[in-house]
Amino acid sequence: MYDFKGKVAIVTGSGRPKGLGEAMARRFADEGAAVVIHDLGQVKGEIAPEHGVGKSAEMEAIAKSIIDGGGKAATFAGDMLVEKDVENLVQFAVEKFGRLDFFVNNAGIGYLFGPLIDLTQEHWDAVLGVNLRGAFFGIKHAARQMIKQGDGGSIVNIASQAAKGGSARTAAYTSSKHGMVGLTRVAATELAEHKIRVNALCPNHVTTGLGSWQNDYMSKARGLSLDDYLADRRSKIPLDRLGFVEDTAKACAFLCSDQASYVTGEAMNVSGGEQYH
Ligand SMILES: NC(=O)c1ccc[n+]([C@@H]2O[C@H](COP(=O)([O-])OP(=O)(O)OC[C@H]3O[C@@H](n4cnc5c(N)ncnc54)[C@H](O)[C@@H]3O)[C@@H](O)[C@H]2O)c1
Repeated sequence: MYDFKGKVAIVTGSGRPKGLGEAMARRFADEGAAVVIHDLGQVKGEIAPEHGVGKSAEMEAIAKSIIDGGGKAATFAGDMLVEKDVENLVQFAVEKFGRLDFFVNNAGIGYLFGPLIDLTQEHWDAVLGVNLRGAFFGIKHAARQMIKQGDGGSIVNIASQAAKGGSARTAAYTSSKHGMVGLTRVAATELAEHKIRVNALCPNHVTTGLGSWQNDYMSKARGLSLDDYLADRRSKIPLDRLGFVEDTAKACAFLCSDQASYVTGEAMNVSGGEQYH
């Protein structure tokens, strides 16, 4: 649908099977772009636990299947908490594929939930660190490269429905996603003169690996069976279904395409009508 031949994309946190990142990376590849599959690559204690992390073998498998399908892909393991890792990620894309056109800040911590009065500084810092500071590092280093190239680019920040409202037990997550929208607006304003567009996407619930963990956690916290919890969520969505990873991938491809050449600073809902502001 869009012609991304000759373009190069980085999707952070795209090494986890069935995640939004994987879907966006595959969509870029399907449209002809070369794509860097980035992820942490390994478990790192409770802030990056087994249930929350894309591992090296998973990253490699996603890249291999893109290449086997005729696409261009490479993997890069790095930590969004570490600025040098993010700088090196951009450098890697340029060395491997020659340039950078699209950067998607998708890596995120969507666990470490709990009542605000019990939230520790360590968990707060981890969530804000990956989701917001990591996105700042991503924008900064992607933009530097795009400015050097001189012909613009598109940066997409994967925020959330949590950027548009508040829900119990998600203080750090919700704050980080609200912050991401503010960061998007500032970056869009500053980078417009370089023809770099910066937008956020705000998906509602998608049952990814992270989403499954959230379903289990929230259904238990609300004393509901998993089925009842999911039915309750669905009942609030006018289009009468939960989100699919492809919904976000389609929106991301649109925002990176020329069809969105006059769209910047947006925080676009991908929520089946659940959010409309
Ligand atoms: N699933 C949903 O319902 C939903 C809804 C709205 C927004 N989101 C957002 O979408 C993004 C992707 O989530 P997903 O549901 O596809 O889950 P996911 O677990 O597939 O993706 C998150 C990725 O972030 C990576 N990550 C975590 N800490 C990292 C670090 N320090 N450095 C590098 N990578 C790190 C993980 O390894 C993982 O691969 C997240 O930012 C999430 O907040 C998800």
